[in-house]
Formats: sequence, C-alpha cells, structure tokens
Amino acid sequence: MNNIPLLLTGVTGLTGSLLLHKLVKADFHSQILCLVRPTSNRDSIEALDLNLNFFIGDSAATKTWEQLLEKYSPATIIHIASIRHIPIILNSFQGVGQHPRLIIIGTTGIYSKYNQYSKDYKAIEEQLTQYPGQYCLLRPTMIYGSHRDKNLHKLIKFCDRYGFFPVFGSGQCLLQPIHADDLAKAILHVLQRPTIQGTYDLSGGSIVTFRELLAIVEKQLGKPVRPIYIPLRVGVWSATIAEKVLGTKSPVRREQILRLQEDKAYSHNAAQRDLDFFPRSLEVGLQQEVELMHSKGVL
Ligand SMILES: NC(=O)c1ccc[n+]([C@@H]2O[C@H](COP(=O)([O-])OP(=O)(O)OC[C@H]3O[C@@H](n4cnc5c(N)ncnc54)[C@H](OP(=O)(O)O)[C@@H]3O)[C@@H](O)[C@H]2O)c1
Repeated sequence: MNNIPLLLTGVTGLTGSLLLHKLVKADFHSQILCLVRPTSNRDSIEALDLNLNFFIGDSAATKTWEQLLEKYSPATIIHIASIRHIPIILNSFQGVGQHPRLIIIGTTGIYSKYNQYSKDYKAIEEQLTQYPGQYCLLRPTMIYGSHRDKNLHKLIKFCDRYGFFPVFGSGQCLLQPIHADDLAKAILHVLQRPTIQGTYDLSGGSIVTFRELLAIVEKQLGKPVRPIYIPLRVGVWSATIAEKVLGTKSPVRREQILRLQEDKAYSHNAAQRDLDFFPRSLEVGLQQEVELMHSKGVL
C-alpha cells in the first residue's frame, strides 16, 4: 500500500481547478492523488507544475472508495465534488478502518427554510459530527467567478444579450455570493494549518439585493439591464405547470424561484477570525468575471 499525503476530488471543476493553481503558487510538491471520472476533462490541469496522479472512479460509489483507500490510504482528503457523497465516503472509511483528515465543501443551502432542499444536508452534517477523525467543513454561499460558474455567468450572458432580466417577486431578497477564488484560498489556508477543524460559513464580501446585483451587472457590462418584474405567484405557477403538468424543462426551476425569495446572507466572521478570510466585494468580483468572459469570447 502507498501512503499518499493528499487526495483531492472535484479538481476538474471551478473551485478545484483554482485550488490546484494555488497549490502551484504555494510550491506544493508532495504527491497529490486526484479522484476523477472517466469522462472528466483533465486537459487544463495535467500540464500544471504539480506532482499529480489520477485515480479514475466515481466519488459517489462505494467500490471506488474501497479500492482507493486500500491502495493509497490518504492522510488528508479535500472533498470538493459533492457533500452528498459523504455518507458513502464515511461508510467506506469505517469498512477499511481509516480516519484521514477531511476538508469538505458543503453549502449554506443547509439554512434553507424549504425542508425538501435542506433536509439531506442536515442529515449529512449530522452524520459528519460522528466522524472519529478530524474534519473541517466549509459551507460556501452561491459560487461565481468565471464562465464555468453555474450561476452568475448565465445571468451576465442573458443580460448582455437581451438587456433585461426577469425578477420574480420584489427582488429585495439578500444575496452574498462568494468568488470561487476566495473559496479556493480558504481551502488552501485550512490545508496548510492541520489544527483547524470545525464548520465555517464562507460568504462573499458584499450583501446585495437581487435588484442591486442587476445594477452591478449593468455597470460592469456598460449597457442597460432592465429588471422585468414578474409576480411571484405567476412565476411559481408557470414553472409548476411546465415541470409537473407538461413535463417540460422550465427555464427557471420552481425551486429556484422559491429559493430566490429567501435571504441568503450569512456571516463569515468566524472564518475571518480563524481562516484569515477576507473575500472580495461583489463589484470587484463581477468586474473580474465580466473581463474574463470578454477575454474568453463568451461575451
Ligand atoms: N455552485 C454553487 O453555487 C455552489 C454553492 C454552494 C456549494 N457548492 C458546492 O461547492 C463545491 C464546488 O462547486 P463548483 O461549482 O466549484 O463545482 P463544479 O465546477 O460543478 O465541479 C464539480 C467537480 O466535482 C466533480 N464530480 C462531481 N461528481 C463527481 C463524481 N460522482 N465522481 C467524481 N467527481 C465528481 C466534477 O467532475 P467532472 O469534471 O467529471 O464533472 C468536477 O470536477 C461542490 O461540492 C458544490 O456542490 C456549490
């Protein structure tokens, strides 16, 4: 059996690839094992000046974890792929009797008042509290930062193309998105300090309403973006009909519309104190994202 110092999941995604770039800058030359899927695109990371090795598998599969743990017995695991895989991972640890240090990316979605959305996260975090090894759980808010993000880049593209954006309800709900690079920095900080453990909420440097977010996008694009107000009930009703009655895909899912009405601002004071976490403002982050999208020809 090899004893590998570090195992990473999610390295081909937005946060994971930024973390790898930070490891390059930090001169991290220990062996790193990356769990990737057979379909994962490794083109952009393989050339990095890191001692990377790949284990092909599925982070949601017990078989993958059993084989990987038997063969490599990692000392530390940074699990970025999905917190939903944690029950399988913990059971696999138990099966092989290993308790590596765990750094896990969760989500502030656990605070949602919609039980169907938050109940799985609550159950998973509860299971995590029973883990006999050391762990640190980082809960980001909505992640943005490039054309690879799942959220704001679509909004920016839509605003750029059509000059308006639908706002369901009043548009006064609060948001505090985190830039993926600030999240990657926090992960590196935890990795480099083995005594850090516990749970931290990681939110962005600005709290804004949805209307204010559109105003920042308008400013960064340098062209008008008109909010089109749609009554909440009309939005929910249309998405429900599309999803449940017609069986089609609504452009905005019912759950997304409902969750957009929730305030999603969370303090990162604990992370600021313990992780030296000082995230950039949304204005700066969106300026960088728009510039990046221009340079990639996405806008
Ligand atoms: N996006 C958000 O707004 C948000 C908010 C809160 C929390 N989070 C959580 O934060 C983490 C990072 O988000 P992100 O947006 O940076 O991620 P991302 O860009 O979607 O990348 C996900 C990564 O996980 C890998 N992955 C997914 N399922 C896998 C599986 N079954 N086996 C192996 N690898 C798997 C993907 O591999 P492939 O390249 O093969 O797809 C990819 O490398 C995720 O856990 C996400 O749930 C995200």
